[in-house]
Amino acid sequence: MAITPPEQRIWWNEPIHQVELGWIVIAFLWGLFMFFFMIAWHFIGEQNLSTETYRINPTAYEEKVEAFADKYQVGEEDGVPVVRAPAGEDVYLLARLWEWWPIIELKKGQSYRIHLSSADWQHGFSLQPTNINVQVHPGYEHVINLTPTEAGDYGIICNEYCGIGHHTMTGRIHVTE
Ligand code: CUA
Repeated sequence: MAITPPEQRIWWNEPIHQVELGWIVIAFLWGLFMFFFMIAWHFIGEQNLSTETYRINPTAYEEKVEAFADKYQVGEEDGVPVVRAPAGEDVYLLARLWEWWPIIELKKGQSYRIHLSSADWQHGFSLQPTNINVQVHPGYEHVINLTPTEAGDYGIICNEYCGIGHHTMTGRIHVTE
């Protein structure tokens, strides 16, 4: 089959069909609506976290997490400190190659300010089995307000690819009654 030009050489210079124009307008308006509605998801649906974010030096953040762990450590699991902060307290979690450190213990029904940042590369904070996901960057400190509603053991997994040990990068949160 030979490639031949279309019969009507100026095929693109046709007036737009009404139906096509209609769909373009609908898609455009829907896009605008969804864009502005992003704000509303912070108030309804409960699935969007409104986070505070601050600039921080990664080394300074690492020191804050270590001081926090030293102050409130109550035990140890597999060489990782288990840290129990009092209710309402700031809780610090550090992402680094390749772990979420330390293990934290929270009380059900109490509110905490959970701080997240990375010491090195980009990591992900994915809280299992709930569906909370935060992208974590070195140099940025995220603060999320969290009130656990159910006791149990929660896992943190890194859901941003961060190199050869990515699949082993996990952490733990224990929620007690
Ligand atoms: Cu950290 Cu993937």
